[in-house]
Amino acid sequence: MNKKNSVFIATSLDGYIADKNGGIDWLHSIPNPDQDDMGYVEFNHGIDALVMGRTTFETVLRFDVEWPYDKPVYVLSNTLKEIPKSHEGKAFLVKGTLTEILNQIHEKGLYRLYIDGGTTIRNFLKEDLIDEMVITTIPILLGGGSSLFAELPNELKFELIGAQTYLNQITQNHYKRKK
Ligand SMILES: NC(=O)c1ccc[n+]([C@@H]2O[C@H](COP(=O)([O-])OP(=O)(O)OC[C@H]3O[C@@H](n4cnc5c(N)ncnc54)[C@H](OP(=O)(O)O)[C@@H]3O)[C@@H](O)[C@H]2O)c1
Repeated sequence: MNKKNSVFIATSLDGYIADKNGGIDWLHSIPNPDQDDMGYVEFNHGIDALVMGRTTFETVLRFDVEWPYDKPVYVLSNTLKEIPKSHEGKAFLVKGTLTEILNQIHEKGLYRLYIDGGTTIRNFLKEDLIDEMVITTIPILLGGGSSLFAELPNELKFELIGAQTYLNQITQNHYKRKK
């Protein structure tokens, strides 16, 4: 089985994934009356597990909705002591270097991974461990917040392998790492 680390994330026009207050309400600023999933369901079919930063995990917990994932979620954290009882068996705490973490997950037969969370994605990119990125751009300038990208030790080339428009407003680009 081929190993693959994928990003599927939405950003503002100015490249933020959360606003100045850490909020993500703006993700829903374009009316979506038919609940178009914008490719998420198909993307989700193609993954075995998620690897998520602690901040994103806690954000999802705060949503107060049913747990939205049907795949195991590996939560990266050096500070969380345990996964809340309510999510035992669904989410699992992992720590270590990214290579150690990936090895632990691959040993379970999970190879196609959805990498989520700003710091987490940036850490993976720093080590050139992202194979594809699906980036959905919402037409809003937030003027500040958490950037998706930051400085990298080296440039990384990506190839555009698909582009879509949703709701006549939202663009989605699918990039594959070009080595
Ligand atoms: N726009 C979107 O589609 C989208 C998607 C996802 C998230 N978001 C938003 O983006 C923000 C994400 O926050 P964030 O940038 O703080 O990122 P994050 O990646 O969700 O969480 C960062 C935390 O993950 C842990 N971590 C990361 N790498 C680790 C490693 N190698 N080993 C151990 N722990 C590691 C650390 O937790 P400890 O401090 O516990 O050690 C770190 O503080 C949230 O506001 C979220 O709602 C937006």
